[in-house]
Amino acid sequence: MEFNKLGNSGLSVSKIAYGNWINHGGKVDENTAINCVKAALDVGITTFDTADVYSDTKAEEILGRSLQGIRRASIELCTKVCHPTGNGPNDRGLSRKHILENCHASLRRLQTDYIDVYYAHRFDPTTPLEETMLAFADLVRQGKVLYIGVSEWTSEQITRGAALARQLNIPLIASQPQYSMLWRVIETDVIPTCQREGLGQVVWSPLAQGVLTGKYLPQQPVPAQSRANSPAGKPFFNKLAQRWMTDNVLTAIQHLKPIAQELDLSLAQLSVAWVLQNTNVSSAIIGASSPEQVRENTVAASVKLEPEIMKQIDNVLEGLVEFDPSKTG
Ligand SMILES: NC(=O)c1ccc[n+]([C@@H]2O[C@H](COP(=O)([O-])OP(=O)(O)OC[C@H]3O[C@@H](n4cnc5c(N)ncnc54)[C@H](OP(=O)(O)O)[C@@H]3O)[C@@H](O)[C@H]2O)c1
Repeated sequence: MEFNKLGNSGLSVSKIAYGNWINHGGKVDENTAINCVKAALDVGITTFDTADVYSDTKAEEILGRSLQGIRRASIELCTKVCHPTGNGPNDRGLSRKHILENCHASLRRLQTDYIDVYYAHRFDPTTPLEETMLAFADLVRQGKVLYIGVSEWTSEQITRGAALARQLNIPLIASQPQYSMLWRVIETDVIPTCQREGLGQVVWSPLAQGVLTGKYLPQQPVPAQSRANSPAGKPFFNKLAQRWMTDNVLTAIQHLKPIAQELDLSLAQLSVAWVLQNTNVSSAIIGASSPEQVRENTVAASVKLEPEIMKQIDNVLEGLVEFDPSKTG
């Protein structure tokens, strides 16, 4: 495994992080979840990403159980707050009440004394940002949270958050946006802002939820065990990924396969490696429904793609990539 400093901070994160959205407490049984975490640790992943809201809070519990016995200082445990965890009006958002209560609940579920990076999962327009940042600052001073991050905040929201973090003297060091060959909306605004403010990118869905593995073929039924084959009532396959299940996108993705083969890589490895070529990306969070996927995708950490390869990829995907910065959030 290779490591990067997260933004301008002193915190090292593994270039590949393991995330448990949809899979833990959802798509896969607990035994498989535990084996995926074991595989992640075996390949040298130290950065683990979850959220209060994943699988109705079960994902944090499973990750906590999976990491029992692991030396706490050898991993970075990251979670988030904002999306609803209950039906009450204070069971959501970035109020002081919800942030503090939710942090304590996450610590219990994760069976840990502190969170390495605590993310605001989204921006909360209903709460004064000053209140939000002060709540985070109190958690930092109490030692319950080491660093702060934001997820899917716009460039303007990051600028405001960073100014308050500076005033409060707390380390706001990470932005967690969606980023992949197909979804590049952070490139124009969010990345330059984060560079200026010292935040690193920890990017999610580098495989566009599996679409960039090339396993979904145009005009063919989706593979039975895949995320896109969500059972009724369990929308595992997020609407953001559905947009790519069109003939023209799936056909173009098949045209990426020879580029990967030429480099002796799978398309999944090429796709994860692609996000890591951007030097603003500190870590790519991969999801996995099996330990084999963890092992396969982690190879990407050490892959260097030459400019000529990056150009070939751009050519294949021309006209299919989303760049619009207003799609952030
Ligand atoms: N901050 C946010 O708002 C936010 C939002 C979403 C995610 N996240 C974080 O990012 C993490 C990763 O997101 P993601 O799971 O969508 O990432 P992803 O890496 O784009 O997709 C992972 C899924 O792709 C499939 N896959 C992975 N490797 C494969 C391979 N080698 N061959 C075939 N299929 C493969 C698996 O699904 P199947 O096998 O089931 O098809 C796997 O669960 C999450 O766990 C979470 O921690 C954050």
